[in-house]
Amino acid sequence: MAFIDKIAVLTSGGDAPGMNAAIRAVVRKGIYHNLKVFGVYHGYEGLIKGHIRTMDLRSVGDIIHRGGTILRTARSEEMRTEAGQQKAAAQLRERGIGALVVIGGDGSYRAAQKLAHLGINVVGIPGTIDNDIVGTDMTIGFDTTVNTVIEAVSKIRDTATSHERTFLVEVMGRNCGDIALRAGLAIGAESILIPEIEYDLKEVSEKLIKGFKRGKNHSIIIAAEGAGDIMEISSRLKEYTGLDNKVTILGHVQRGGAPSAYDAVLAATMGGKAIEVILEGKSEVMISLCKNEIVARPLHIAFEPRKGPFPRHLYDLANELSI
Ligand code: F6P
Repeated sequence: MAFIDKIAVLTSGGDAPGMNAAIRAVVRKGIYHNLKVFGVYHGYEGLIKGHIRTMDLRSVGDIIHRGGTILRTARSEEMRTEAGQQKAAAQLRERGIGALVVIGGDGSYRAAQKLAHLGINVVGIPGTIDNDIVGTDMTIGFDTTVNTVIEAVSKIRDTATSHERTFLVEVMGRNCGDIALRAGLAIGAESILIPEIEYDLKEVSEKLIKGFKRGKNHSIIIAAEGAGDIMEISSRLKEYTGLDNKVTILGHVQRGGAPSAYDAVLAATMGGKAIEVILEGKSEVMISLCKNEIVARPLHIAFEPRKGPFPRHLYDLANELSI
């Protein structure tokens, strides 16, 4: 096992609340264990160009509660190429950096795996609001985002009630419906539209009409961005119900803000665990929350087809509670 005394950390892909808390944990615990820690700026794009600076204890002061990522982030096309991967590995080798911690989603892990094959020890930390990484029950940022959606919907509800309207609220999540599902259950949405479960807009309309006939003064439908074109869904619901509806696309507001207590703790513990596994000489692993425990698992698990069994019971429960 090659001796490692220098490590680096980067964030990649979409930023997520709690990434800063994870960076801080990696830097502080690394220094505590006598490692020299470097920060790579602008994700893999920055790594290829050598945007690498030494991190000291103060460099991560006053960031634990801030959203976004102080290291900045990027989506890198060049890192998909072999030439880009060689350049990235060379930047690390030149500085004697033996291990890299990558905070991001599964796309970021794929690039990390390439670096592992070029002799760099790599550890992935799941950081994305989407909660779509196979091999971990939770990703850093997801809980904060669900809370942000809940807060936004409670404001929408005020105007929805005043005008006795139906609102369609589109949330992020790429091809994963987790944000919509959890937020929808938490706010008591009339319907939840997610890519994992086929929906029938005629049934959704019937439910809306039934609700209004029974005296409901507003309705909220939460739709994952992966569930279909929200404007198209809106016009079909108008057609089927004969009632107006309003569309709110929450967008990037969902990516910002201070991490929730849950995310801040998850980030600290995952960052700390990343240093432990580096000190043990492990590579090609991802830090994961598995049945309430923070563990290290083989990185390739993240590339398996689906994220565990879909929590169908939550979807069914949300339906039962919103009759
Ligand atoms: O992966 C995080 C995420 O916010 C997704 O939910 C969303 O589809 C995507 O990133 C948006 O990416 P961008 O900020 O590059 O438009």
